[in-house]
Amino acid sequence: MKAYAQDAATGAASGTMTAYANLHHKPCDVGIMIGARDYWGAGYGQDAWDALTRWLISEGRVRKLTAGCLAANGAMITLMERSGMAREAVRAGQELLDGEPCDILHYAKFAR
Ligand SMILES: CC(C)(COP(=O)(O)OP(=O)(O)OC[C@H]1O[C@@H](n2cnc3c(N)ncnc32)[C@H](O)[C@@H]1OP(=O)(O)O)[C@@H](O)C(=O)NCCC(=O)NCCS
Repeated sequence: MKAYAQDAATGAASGTMTAYANLHHKPCDVGIMIGARDYWGAGYGQDAWDALTRWLISEGRVRKLTAGCLAANGAMITLMERSGMAREAVRAGQELLDGEPCDILHYAKFAR
């Protein structure tokens, strides 16, 4: 599932959210991207993240939510931890950030 958000006043595209579920094992990997920096830091990310993750769990379709980000992405880590996700794995030096190795942090939350 992929959802697109747009500015209600201007119609400009502002971001996307994705949810990829395995229907047999029932984990669901969730992602978010607010593409335009003008929209960062205004609470939209947390609102959207909470709405999607709560909906996925409340519908009973999902057994486990997963998500991940670069260790340098403090805002994303805040979103995940505030939604009740806990760090479950680290892939050390998995990607390059400005030419330097950066860890990828994996977070998860069980529906119950
Ligand atoms: C990550 C992202 C979704 C956050 O959305 P946002 O709307 O900017 O975030 P919000 O305003 O809802 O809240 C972010 C919170 O993180 C906090 N935060 C910001 N930078 C931080 C940092 N370096 N360390 C810790 N917390 C940080 C903010 O202070 C805010 O908390 P507050 O409400 O107490 O002030 C958005 O910045 C984005 O799309 N970035 C680009 C794509 C991306 O990184 N996607 C995720 C990777 S998979």
